[in-house]
Amino acid sequence: MYKTAVIGAGLMGSGIAIAYSAAGYQVMLFDFEEVLKKSLENIKNILAELSRLQILKNEDQNKILERISMTTSLEDAVKDAEIVTEAVSESLELKINLFKQLDEICGKEVILASNTSSFKISEIAQRVNRKQRVVGTHWWNPPYLMPLVEIIRTDFNSEIIERVVNLFTKTLKKQVVVCKDSPGGVGVRLQAALFAEAMKIYDEGLVSASDLDKIVKLTLGMRYPLFGPFQIADLGGLDVFLHAHDYLSKRLGERFTPIRRLVSMVENGELGVKTGKGFYTYPKDYLEKVLKKRNETILEILRIQSKFDV
Ligand SMILES: NC(=O)c1ccc[n+]([C@@H]2O[C@H](COP(=O)([O-])OP(=O)(O)OC[C@H]3O[C@@H](n4cnc5c(N)ncnc54)[C@H](O)[C@@H]3O)[C@@H](O)[C@H]2O)c1
Repeated sequence: MYKTAVIGAGLMGSGIAIAYSAAGYQVMLFDFEEVLKKSLENIKNILAELSRLQILKNEDQNKILERISMTTSLEDAVKDAEIVTEAVSESLELKINLFKQLDEICGKEVILASNTSSFKISEIAQRVNRKQRVVGTHWWNPPYLMPLVEIIRTDFNSEIIERVVNLFTKTLKKQVVVCKDSPGGVGVRLQAALFAEAMKIYDEGLVSASDLDKIVKLTLGMRYPLFGPFQIADLGGLDVFLHAHDYLSKRLGERFTPIRRLVSMVENGELGVKTGKGFYTYPKDYLEKVLKKRNETILEILRIQSKFDV
């Protein structure tokens, strides 16, 4: 049976352990004694919840639990592990020290993965001897349900990327996107940009926090299950987006300045869906099909939202 280690048994580590165990891995979870006790309770509760949601059968609950072991010894945790996932608190110093230790005690072939949300993976990799085996595997919470993991490619780790992609897609049944190394990766950086703007808007007193949340949930949030920002821009018209950003950059600041690529796309008549080409290329019947799908999805989301009153 494949073995794996998860270092840090907090919110993410406990969830990542469940995801690996559900995929058939023997998991060793490492943390301080009292944290491990709490983690075991959390894991049991999560498994019970997944059974209630009919994602797991009762007998699978037990099997997943049986495959997770806990230890306070780092050496025992990583013994025979194929991949070690670091999910300790978000401190660069702590992570670098841990990776230095892991690099010393793990076999040459073992992949060392960090779940950091914000640090550049190379800042950690550069500090260990075998930097080619350090990779970012950025899970989202809750790890056992969220469908996508960002895999972070550095200047050093290209040889292991295929192995990591195969592990996540074939064994853990996740969708993956391989991203170049950068602070915050991609998803967290996008989330940070939205939150930074939300804080500015709040600070300017334009709306209350709850009204801003309401606007996001009932406007942007209705679109995101179907469309990403580039698809939304293609649908709205890149000329329209360019003009809006020109104006916003003059009034609100450089962060809204359109990139050169957008300007040249508009100059070339690549305006999105209406001209058949923007960030994507569109067949003639795209709009008709997509609007039908969009309307159905909006109704579905409204039905879900009406049940979710928190
Ligand atoms: N919370 C999220 O939604 C989320 C999502 C994606 C990524 N992340 C990242 O995952 C990592 C863990 O986040 P979390 O939310 O699970 O944090 P958490 O605080 O719930 O858990 C961190 C764990 O690290 C342990 N720890 C601290 N120092 C340690 C050490 N020296 N050795 C071993 N364990 C140690 C703590 O005891 C704790 O159990 C962070 O890097 C975070 O940025 C978090």
